[in-house]
Amino acid sequence: MTGLPLIKQGKVRDVYDAGAGRLVLDSTDRISAFDIVLADTIPRKGEILNAISACHLKMADNSGIPTHYISMVPAKRTAMFVYRLDMIPVEVIVRARLYGSAWQRYREGSFALPNGTEPRKGAQFPQPMVEFTTKLEASDRPVTRDEILRNGWMTADEISYVIGTALDVHRLVSVNAAKGKIIVADQKFEFGRNPELAGVPVLGDEAGTPDSSRFWDEELYAENYAAGRDQPSFDKQYVRDFLLRERGWDKERPKAGTRLTEPILTPEVVSQTTERYMEARRRIMASAGDSK
Ligand SMILES: Nc1ncnc2c1ncn2[C@@H]1O[C@H](COP(=O)(O)OP(=O)(O)OP(=O)(O)O)[C@@H](O)[C@H]1O
Ligand SMILES: [Mg+2]
Repeated sequence: MTGLPLIKQGKVRDVYDAGAGRLVLDSTDRISAFDIVLADTIPRKGEILNAISACHLKMADNSGIPTHYISMVPAKRTAMFVYRLDMIPVEVIVRARLYGSAWQRYREGSFALPNGTEPRKGAQFPQPMVEFTTKLEASDRPVTRDEILRNGWMTADEISYVIGTALDVHRLVSVNAAKGKIIVADQKFEFGRNPELAGVPVLGDEAGTPDSSRFWDEELYAENYAAGRDQPSFDKQYVRDFLLRERGWDKERPKAGTRLTEPILTPEVVSQTTERYMEARRRIMASAGDSK
């Protein structure tokens, strides 16, 4: 983005100061896995993330949920204007299915299954549940409500609000995705404060993107679940699996926070990843009645 001061370079997004309490969030084609930023970029990823996130943030706004979204940046498909928030240093995870780190922790004995959940990878929880992880450390770690209170990260009222709101937004995203035959297995949200906007935490960052969510194919779910197989997904799980299996990252990998300087993906993996992100956008935005 020319002209505006860059105030932060995240793993994926560049954040600019747009003045008057506003920021520009520019989603690049960068990709991270296991909190490591790859040197490879995924063509079109930035514009896809920006479009899907805007679609979900607008959906939340239309349901009366305060969000940071203002508008798209004209003639820049990868960027949106947002209100600047004082970000709460906690990630809010909504889990609808037992997968990923929750499945891992369950197997290690440190994840309590909600009553009525089948103890199988990919099982549906009786209702979606919310967990918190830290944002300040190089690698995310689950945190308890007590730890959040003790550290002054949120008040008890804020915690209740954020749990309810994350579940509400998850429902909106899931109901829409279901029209495109996508299951939203889990997703991450971030909230921040801006007393001029709202007296409650405001939904910030990205919403319901293939970077922040696990999107599964509804038509393939039951068969894979019954067979105990991994669920193919329209997100970056494909890249994670490639790195684990083909690059030995299951045994040894760079430290979280590292930015790689040499490409590590094959052209095939890069183009397949673009395809997956495009498929996610097609299914989500077609059902949202907005195919741009
Ligand atoms: N409205 C907002 N006001 C201020 N900061 C925001 C807002 N929305 C998102 N952010 C922050 O902007 C950054 C977006 O960049 P990106 O998602 O690439 O970073 P990240 O690498 O995931 O984050 P981090 O730097 O926190 O590890 C994040 O740090 C996010 O917390
Ligand atoms: Mg982020």
